[in-house]
Amino acid sequence: MKQVIISGASAGIGAVTAARFLDAGWAVTNLSRRPCPVAGVTSIHCDFAKPESVAKVAAELAAGVADAAQLLLIHNASLLRNDRTGECDDDSFREVLQINLAAPNTLNTALLPLMKPGSAVIYVGSTLSEKAVPNSASYVTTKHATIGMMRATCQDLVGRGIHTACVCPGFTDTEMLRSHIGTDPATEEAVASMSAFGRLIKPEEIAETIVWAATHPVINGAVLHANLGQVER
Ligand SMILES: NC(=O)c1ccc[n+]([C@@H]2O[C@H](COP(=O)([O-])OP(=O)(O)OC[C@H]3O[C@@H](n4cnc5c(N)ncnc54)[C@H](OP(=O)(O)O)[C@@H]3O)[C@@H](O)[C@H]2O)c1
Repeated sequence: MKQVIISGASAGIGAVTAARFLDAGWAVTNLSRRPCPVAGVTSIHCDFAKPESVAKVAAELAAGVADAAQLLLIHNASLLRNDRTGECDDDSFREVLQINLAAPNTLNTALLPLMKPGSAVIYVGSTLSEKAVPNSASYVTTKHATIGMMRATCQDLVGRGIHTACVCPGFTDTEMLRSHIGTDPATEEAVASMSAFGRLIKPEEIAETIVWAATHPVINGAVLHANLGQVER
C-alpha cells in the first residue's frame, strides 16, 4: 500500500494536494480540526495546538502504517498570526511553535522509524522561510526553523532511502491569505503585483509542486521556492 499522511488538508493547499495524491492512486489521510472536503480522503481529527491531541493521533497512526510500502508525510498545517518582535505574548508565541514545529516533530518521532525506502517527508515553508516582513514575527521564526528541521531530517535520514524537501509557497489564494488580505480588489491587486507574474498563485500550482517533490528523491534536502518570482522592493 502507498500511503500519504498530510496535515491541514481541510482547506487550501492541503485539500488540493490530498486530491492530487488520491487521483494518483495513493491512500490519503488528513490531520486537522475540520475534515478534508475531498471524498475518499480519510480525516482524523487533530488539534495541533494541543500536544496531547497530536501525541494520541501519532500513536494511532504508528500502529496503522506498518503495511505501508511507501509513506509520504506532508507537514502542511500552520498558523499565521500577526505579531511583532518585542510585543509578542509568550503563550501566543508558544502556540505558534507548537502548531508549526512541535506537532511536526511529534509526527516525525512516531512515524520516521517506521518508514521504508521510497518514503518522503515534505515540509511546507513559505517565502517567509528565508526573508522577513513586519507583523509576522512568530510565523517568520517558525517558517525559518522549518527549513532547519528539513535540513536536519535530510542529515539524520542518510542511508535510509527516504528523502525530504521544503516547498515554500508565495502568495497563494487560500483561506490563510484571504483572512489577511480580505476580498477588496485593490488589496488583491497590490498583493498580486508583488509577484513577477502579477497574479496570485493557485493552490493547484503548489499542490503539483508538493506531489512532484514527494516523488522525486533527487531533490533530497532542497528548498524549493514556488512564488512566481517575488518582486523585491
Ligand atoms: N496561502 C499562502 O499565501 C501561503 C504562503 C506561504 C506559505 N503558505 C503555507 O502553506 C501551508 C498551507 O496554507 P494554506 O494557505 O493552504 O492555509 P489554509 O487554507 O488556511 O489551511 C490551513 C490548514 O492548516 C490547518 N490547521 C491550522 N491550525 C491547525 C491546528 N491547530 N490543528 C490542525 N490543523 C490546523 C487547517 O485545518 P483546520 O482549521 O481544519 O484545523 C487547514 O487545513 C501552510 O504551511 C502555510 O504556512 C501559504
